[in-house]
Amino acid sequence: MKIEKGIILAGGTGSRLYPLTIASNKQLLPIYDKPAIYYPLTTLMLAGIRDILIISTPKDIAAIQSLFGDGTTFGIKFSYKIQVEPRGLPEAFILGEEFIEQKPVAMILGDNFFHGHGLPSIVSEASSHLNGAHIFVYPVEDPSRYGIVSFDKKQKVLSLEEKPSKPQSNYAITGLYYFNGHVSEYAKQLKPSPRGETEITDLIRYYLDQGTLNVSVLGRGYVWFDVGTSKSLLDASNYVEVIQSRQGTVIASPEEVAWRMGFIEKKAFQSHVYALPNSQYKQYLSRIEPL
Ligand code: G1P
Repeated sequence: MKIEKGIILAGGTGSRLYPLTIASNKQLLPIYDKPAIYYPLTTLMLAGIRDILIISTPKDIAAIQSLFGDGTTFGIKFSYKIQVEPRGLPEAFILGEEFIEQKPVAMILGDNFFHGHGLPSIVSEASSHLNGAHIFVYPVEDPSRYGIVSFDKKQKVLSLEEKPSKPQSNYAITGLYYFNGHVSEYAKQLKPSPRGETEITDLIRYYLDQGTLNVSVLGRGYVWFDVGTSKSLLDASNYVEVIQSRQGTVIASPEEVAWRMGFIEKKAFQSHVYALPNSQYKQYLSRIEPL
Protein backbone atom coordinates (compact mmCIF):
# COMPACT_ATOMS: atom_id res chain seq x y z
CA MET A 1 0.00 0.00 0.00
CA LYS A 2 1.34 3.40 -0.97
CA ILE A 3 1.61 6.22 1.56
CA GLU A 4 -1.27 8.63 0.98
CA LYS A 5 -0.70 11.14 3.75
CA GLY A 6 2.11 13.62 4.22
CA ILE A 7 3.15 16.29 6.70
CA ILE A 8 5.20 19.37 5.91
CA LEU A 9 6.78 20.70 9.09
CA ALA A 10 7.27 24.40 8.46
CA GLY A 11 7.90 25.60 11.99
CA GLY A 12 10.94 26.82 13.86
CA THR A 13 12.20 30.28 14.56
CA GLY A 14 14.71 30.36 11.72
CA SER A 15 17.20 31.87 14.16
CA ARG A 16 20.22 31.03 12.00
CA LEU A 17 18.73 33.17 9.22
CA TYR A 18 18.24 36.25 11.40
CA PRO A 19 17.41 39.06 10.44
CA LEU A 20 15.78 37.51 7.33
CA THR A 21 13.32 35.71 9.57
CA ILE A 22 12.20 38.54 11.87
CA ALA A 23 9.07 39.16 9.84
CA SER A 24 9.19 36.24 7.38
CA ASN A 25 8.88 32.52 7.75
CA LYS A 26 11.97 30.55 6.67
CA GLN A 27 9.85 28.37 4.41
CA LEU A 28 8.52 31.38 2.52
CA LEU A 29 11.93 32.86 1.72
CA PRO A 30 12.89 32.48 -1.92
CA ILE A 31 14.94 29.66 -3.30
CA TYR A 32 15.72 31.59 -6.46
CA ASP A 33 12.25 32.21 -7.94
CA LYS A 34 9.78 30.44 -5.63
CA PRO A 35 9.01 30.10 -1.94
CA ALA A 36 11.27 27.48 -0.35
CA ILE A 37 8.25 25.38 0.68
CA TYR A 38 7.40 24.66 -2.99
CA TYR A 39 10.40 22.33 -3.13
CA PRO A 40 9.44 19.92 -0.31
CA LEU A 41 5.79 20.17 -1.37
CA THR A 42 6.59 18.92 -4.86
CA THR A 43 8.79 16.14 -3.44
CA LEU A 44 5.75 14.80 -1.56
CA MET A 45 3.60 15.23 -4.67
CA LEU A 46 6.11 13.24 -6.73
CA ALA A 47 5.69 10.42 -4.19
CA GLY A 48 1.98 10.49 -5.11
CA ILE A 49 0.87 12.16 -1.85
CA ARG A 50 -2.19 14.41 -2.07
CA ASP A 51 -3.48 14.61 1.51
CA ILE A 52 -1.12 17.03 3.24
CA LEU A 53 -0.98 18.56 6.72
CA ILE A 54 1.09 21.72 7.06
CA ILE A 55 2.32 22.48 10.57
CA SER A 56 3.69 25.92 11.35
CA THR A 57 4.02 28.54 14.07
CA PRO A 58 1.22 30.84 15.33
CA LYS A 59 3.05 33.74 13.64
CA ASP A 60 3.44 32.09 10.22
CA ILE A 61 0.48 29.79 9.65
CA ALA A 62 -1.73 32.51 8.11
CA ALA A 63 0.89 33.43 5.49
CA ILE A 64 1.31 29.79 4.47
CA GLN A 65 -2.44 29.36 4.34
CA SER A 66 -2.77 32.38 2.06
CA LEU A 67 -0.10 30.90 -0.22
CA PHE A 68 -1.76 27.51 -0.62
CA GLY A 69 -5.43 27.78 0.41
CA ASP A 70 -7.22 24.45 0.45
CA GLY A 71 -5.05 23.03 -2.35
CA THR A 72 -7.73 22.65 -5.04
CA THR A 73 -5.56 24.29 -7.69
CA PHE A 74 -2.92 21.60 -7.19
CA GLY A 75 -5.40 18.75 -6.83
CA ILE A 76 -4.35 18.42 -3.19
CA LYS A 77 -6.16 18.54 0.12
CA PHE A 78 -4.31 20.77 2.61
CA SER A 79 -4.99 20.88 6.34
CA TYR A 80 -3.21 23.19 8.76
CA LYS A 81 -2.10 22.90 12.35
CA ILE A 82 -0.23 25.21 14.72
CA GLN A 83 2.87 24.18 16.67
CA VAL A 84 2.86 26.61 19.57
CA GLU A 85 6.57 26.29 20.30
CA PRO A 86 9.33 24.10 18.85
CA ARG A 87 9.49 20.95 20.99
CA GLY A 88 11.22 18.77 18.41
CA LEU A 89 10.39 17.26 15.03
CA PRO A 90 8.57 14.20 16.49
CA GLU A 91 5.90 16.51 17.91
CA ALA A 92 4.51 16.72 14.37
CA PHE A 93 3.21 13.17 14.79
CA ILE A 94 1.45 14.06 18.03
CA LEU A 95 -0.08 17.26 16.62
CA GLY A 96 -0.96 15.30 13.51
CA GLU A 97 -2.38 12.25 15.27
CA GLU A 98 -5.97 12.81 14.14
CA PHE A 99 -4.82 13.57 10.61
CA ILE A 100 -2.66 10.43 10.47
CA GLU A 101 -5.47 8.08 11.62
CA GLN A 102 -2.86 5.39 12.37
CA LYS A 103 -2.04 5.13 8.68
CA PRO A 104 1.42 5.27 7.08
CA VAL A 105 2.66 8.83 6.75
CA ALA A 106 5.50 10.76 5.15
CA MET A 107 7.04 13.81 6.76
CA ILE A 108 9.23 16.37 5.02
CA LEU A 109 10.88 19.38 6.61
CA GLY A 110 9.79 22.66 5.05
CA ASP A 111 13.38 23.79 4.49
CA ASN A 112 14.57 20.65 2.69
CA PHE A 113 15.34 20.67 -1.01
CA PHE A 114 15.79 17.49 -3.03
CA HIS A 115 16.52 17.21 -6.73
CA GLY A 116 17.92 14.64 -9.10
CA HIS A 117 17.21 12.29 -11.92
CA GLY A 118 15.21 9.34 -10.64
CA LEU A 119 13.97 11.11 -7.49
CA PRO A 120 10.28 10.48 -8.34
CA SER A 121 10.89 6.73 -8.61
CA ILE A 122 13.06 6.46 -5.49
CA VAL A 123 10.51 8.29 -3.31
CA SER A 124 7.46 6.49 -4.68
CA GLU A 125 9.13 3.06 -4.65
CA ALA A 126 10.05 3.39 -0.96
CA SER A 127 6.49 4.48 -0.27
CA SER A 128 5.01 1.33 -1.79
CA HIS A 129 7.41 -0.96 0.10
CA LEU A 130 7.11 0.61 3.54
CA ASN A 131 7.58 -1.87 6.34
CA GLY A 132 8.24 0.16 9.51
CA ALA A 133 10.22 3.29 8.71
CA HIS A 134 12.20 4.50 5.73
CA ILE A 135 14.85 7.23 5.68
CA PHE A 136 16.85 8.83 2.90
CA VAL A 137 20.51 9.52 3.55
CA TYR A 138 23.01 11.72 1.75
CA PRO A 139 26.78 12.10 2.09
CA VAL A 140 27.83 15.46 3.51
CA GLU A 141 31.07 17.28 4.22
CA ASP A 142 29.98 18.47 7.69
CA PRO A 143 28.27 15.47 9.40
CA SER A 144 28.23 16.94 12.90
CA ARG A 145 25.42 19.34 11.82
CA TYR A 146 22.98 16.51 11.13
CA GLY A 147 21.40 13.27 12.23
CA ILE A 148 23.93 10.66 11.13
CA VAL A 149 23.53 7.02 10.25
CA SER A 150 26.17 4.36 9.75
CA PHE A 151 25.39 1.11 7.96
CA ASP A 152 27.05 -2.02 6.60
CA LYS A 153 27.49 -3.11 2.97
CA LYS A 154 23.92 -4.43 2.81
CA GLN A 155 22.63 -1.07 4.02
CA LYS A 156 21.73 -2.53 7.39
CA VAL A 157 21.82 0.37 9.84
CA LEU A 158 24.40 0.01 12.62
CA SER A 159 24.08 3.33 14.44
CA LEU A 160 22.02 6.51 14.64
CA GLU A 161 23.26 9.73 16.24
CA GLU A 162 21.94 13.31 16.37
CA LYS A 163 24.57 15.95 15.62
CA PRO A 164 27.49 13.84 16.91
CA SER A 165 30.78 15.49 17.80
CA LYS A 166 32.60 12.39 16.50
CA PRO A 167 30.44 11.14 13.61
CA GLN A 168 30.68 7.44 12.71
CA SER A 169 29.96 8.16 9.06
CA ASN A 170 29.30 11.12 6.78
CA TYR A 171 25.77 10.01 5.84
CA ALA A 172 23.24 12.60 6.97
CA ILE A 173 19.62 11.67 7.59
CA THR A 174 17.73 14.01 5.29
CA GLY A 175 14.47 15.62 6.28
CA LEU A 176 12.23 13.15 4.45
CA TYR A 177 10.87 10.31 6.56
CA TYR A 178 8.31 7.56 6.04
CA PHE A 179 6.70 5.90 9.06
CA ASN A 180 4.02 3.30 9.59
CA GLY A 181 0.81 3.94 11.54
CA HIS A 182 2.47 3.47 14.96
CA VAL A 183 4.44 6.68 14.70
CA SER A 184 2.20 8.88 16.89
CA GLU A 185 2.24 6.26 19.64
CA TYR A 186 6.07 6.10 19.61
CA ALA A 187 6.41 9.90 19.38
CA LYS A 188 4.46 10.25 22.63
CA GLN A 189 6.94 8.02 24.46
CA LEU A 190 10.02 10.12 23.62
CA LYS A 191 11.87 12.14 26.24
CA PRO A 192 13.58 15.45 25.40
CA SER A 193 17.32 15.28 24.68
CA PRO A 194 19.83 17.52 26.53
CA ARG A 195 19.01 20.33 24.06
CA GLY A 196 15.45 20.33 25.44
CA GLU A 197 13.60 18.89 22.42
CA THR A 198 12.62 15.39 21.35
CA GLU A 199 14.81 14.10 18.52
CA ILE A 200 13.76 12.49 15.26
CA THR A 201 16.75 10.13 15.49
CA ASP A 202 15.30 8.72 18.76
CA LEU A 203 11.99 8.12 16.99
CA ILE A 204 13.76 6.36 14.13
CA ARG A 205 15.58 4.25 16.73
CA TYR A 206 12.30 2.54 17.70
CA TYR A 207 12.16 1.12 14.21
CA LEU A 208 15.86 0.27 14.14
CA ASP A 209 15.43 -1.74 17.37
CA GLN A 210 12.48 -3.61 15.82
CA GLY A 211 14.50 -4.37 12.67
CA THR A 212 12.06 -2.46 10.45
CA LEU A 213 14.18 0.51 9.44
CA ASN A 214 15.06 0.81 5.75
CA VAL A 215 17.42 3.23 4.09
CA SER A 216 17.77 4.68 0.60
CA VAL A 217 21.12 6.24 -0.20
CA LEU A 218 20.89 9.33 -2.37
CA GLY A 219 24.23 9.22 -4.14
CA ARG A 220 26.15 11.52 -6.42
CA GLY A 221 23.29 12.01 -8.87
CA TYR A 222 21.23 13.90 -6.29
CA VAL A 223 21.27 17.24 -4.63
CA TRP A 224 20.07 17.82 -1.09
CA PHE A 225 20.12 21.07 0.82
CA ASP A 226 18.55 22.19 4.05
CA VAL A 227 18.25 25.92 3.63
CA GLY A 228 18.71 26.81 7.29
CA THR A 229 21.54 29.29 6.70
CA SER A 230 21.93 32.21 4.31
CA LYS A 231 24.77 30.41 2.51
CA SER A 232 22.69 27.28 1.89
CA LEU A 233 19.78 29.46 0.74
CA LEU A 234 22.11 31.10 -1.77
CA ASP A 235 23.66 27.77 -2.83
CA ALA A 236 20.22 26.26 -3.46
CA SER A 237 19.14 29.40 -5.35
CA ASN A 238 22.23 29.31 -7.54
CA TYR A 239 21.70 25.62 -8.23
CA VAL A 240 18.09 26.20 -9.31
CA GLU A 241 19.06 29.18 -11.48
CA VAL A 242 21.83 27.23 -13.26
CA ILE A 243 19.66 24.19 -14.07
CA GLN A 244 16.59 26.18 -15.04
CA SER A 245 18.33 28.65 -17.32
CA ARG A 246 20.41 25.93 -18.99
CA GLN A 247 17.47 23.58 -19.60
CA GLY A 248 14.58 26.01 -19.95
CA THR A 249 12.73 24.01 -17.27
CA VAL A 250 11.30 25.03 -13.92
CA ILE A 251 12.18 22.98 -10.83
CA ALA A 252 9.44 22.37 -8.25
CA SER A 253 6.40 23.95 -9.83
CA PRO A 254 3.39 22.47 -7.97
CA GLU A 255 1.18 23.33 -10.97
CA GLU A 256 3.39 21.37 -13.35
CA VAL A 257 3.76 18.41 -10.99
CA ALA A 258 -0.01 18.33 -10.36
CA TRP A 259 -0.62 18.29 -14.10
CA ARG A 260 2.02 15.65 -14.89
CA MET A 261 0.94 13.43 -11.97
CA GLY A 262 -2.67 13.61 -13.13
CA PHE A 263 -3.86 15.33 -9.92
CA ILE A 264 -5.69 17.95 -12.01
CA GLU A 265 -7.42 17.88 -15.38
CA LYS A 266 -5.98 19.64 -18.39
CA LYS A 267 -8.81 22.22 -18.36
CA ALA A 268 -8.28 23.08 -14.68
CA PHE A 269 -4.52 23.45 -15.29
CA GLN A 270 -5.09 25.72 -18.28
CA SER A 271 -7.60 27.98 -16.58
CA HIS A 272 -5.35 28.30 -13.50
CA VAL A 273 -2.39 29.26 -15.71
CA TYR A 274 -4.55 31.69 -17.67
CA ALA A 275 -5.45 33.52 -14.45
CA LEU A 276 -1.82 33.94 -13.30
CA PRO A 277 -0.24 37.40 -13.51
CA ASN A 278 2.07 37.89 -16.45
CA SER A 279 5.43 36.46 -15.39
CA GLN A 280 8.15 34.11 -16.54
CA TYR A 281 6.47 31.47 -14.42
CA LYS A 282 3.21 31.87 -16.36
CA GLN A 283 5.07 31.81 -19.68
CA TYR A 284 6.75 28.54 -18.73
CA LEU A 285 3.52 26.88 -17.63
CA SER A 286 1.79 28.10 -20.80
CA ARG A 287 4.43 26.31 -22.89
CA ILE A 288 3.80 22.97 -21.15
CA GLU A 289 0.17 22.81 -22.16
CA PRO A 290 -0.62 25.65 -24.58
CA LEU A 291 -3.96 27.38 -24.02
C1 G1P B 1 16.97 18.11 11.72
C2 G1P B 1 17.14 16.70 12.30
C3 G1P B 1 18.39 16.04 11.73
C4 G1P B 1 18.36 16.06 10.21
C5 G1P B 1 18.11 17.49 9.68
C6 G1P B 1 17.85 17.47 8.18
O1 G1P B 1 17.97 18.94 12.22
O2 G1P B 1 17.19 16.77 13.70
O3 G1P B 1 18.45 14.70 12.16
O4 G1P B 1 19.58 15.56 9.70
O5 G1P B 1 16.96 18.08 10.31
O6 G1P B 1 17.55 18.74 7.65
P1 G1P B 1 17.77 20.55 12.34
O7 G1P B 1 17.95 21.08 10.94
O8 G1P B 1 16.40 20.76 12.86
O9 G1P B 1 18.85 21.00 13.25
